[in-house]
Amino acid sequence: MPVLEIKKIKKFFGKLKAVNGISFAVDENEIFGLLGPNGSGKTTTQRILTTLLAPTSGEIYYDNKQLSDENANDIRHRIGYVPQGECLFGDLTIEENLRFFAAPYNLDKNHEKNKINELLERLELGDRRKHLVKNLSGGLNKRASIAAALLHEPKILFLDEVTMGLDPNSRYHIWGLIRELKNTTTIIMTTHYMDEAEDLCDRIAILSKGKIMDIDNPHKIIKRYHAKDLNEVIGRVIEREK
Ligand SMILES: Nc1ncnc2c1ncn2[C@@H]1O[C@H](COP(=O)(O)OP(=O)(O)O)[C@@H](O)[C@H]1O
Ligand SMILES: [Mg+2]
Repeated sequence: MPVLEIKKIKKFFGKLKAVNGISFAVDENEIFGLLGPNGSGKTTTQRILTTLLAPTSGEIYYDNKQLSDENANDIRHRIGYVPQGECLFGDLTIEENLRFFAAPYNLDKNHEKNKINELLERLELGDRRKHLVKNLSGGLNKRASIAAALLHEPKILFLDEVTMGLDPNSRYHIWGLIRELKNTTTIIMTTHYMDEAEDLCDRIAILSKGKIMDIDNPHKIIKRYHAKDLNEVIGRVIEREK
């Protein structure tokens, strides 16, 4: 059974068709990648699925129940989101940020404390808990952002370019974390790193100008295009669209 299914989602900003009729379903514990050049609609799609943005048209189903104003808050408790770019408060420590982001979930105080400690350990941030976020390296900052998105134990986690600009070691660390999360969580991620998509994603959707050009297991797609890797596939798909 799909945990998430979207049907003919469109999002227009004036004349701009940022998302132009996309449909797909994601199964439980799948790592699903949204790939495509800048401006192809990846972030807009994630913002719609995380209830931050209303689509112009189309339907979204979580566990076969259609997303509506009435159940949006329930859905928010079941999903986590690490947006593109900076999302923590630089002038707060990691621990203060985590307490801030835990607040809306009204966790029992003891549970909250234990959860924060557990996440700090799991993301290897324990010795940095009192460090101000503005002084962290890119990799540590992203790990703290991921911790903030996991406080309420979401069943579905959205990751928007979480490894963007990180050094190879930090990227590798986050890959390990994503693989581990897969045991308990469904992951919908965007990335510009094709090696990452090939390695991590069970399936990918290739977006161009708000439309899905192809959707499948990355290795199957590479085979089907007789390409040497995903970079070549994406290059050819995007070229074809020009
Ligand atoms: N709030 C907005 N208002 C107007 N245009 C937007 C807005 N958000 C995104 N866009 C436009 O929608 C298109 C898709 O953007 P986005 O989803 O951010 O792409 P991606 O994440 O694939 O780079 C781009 O042309 C972008 O400029
Ligand atoms: Mg984006």
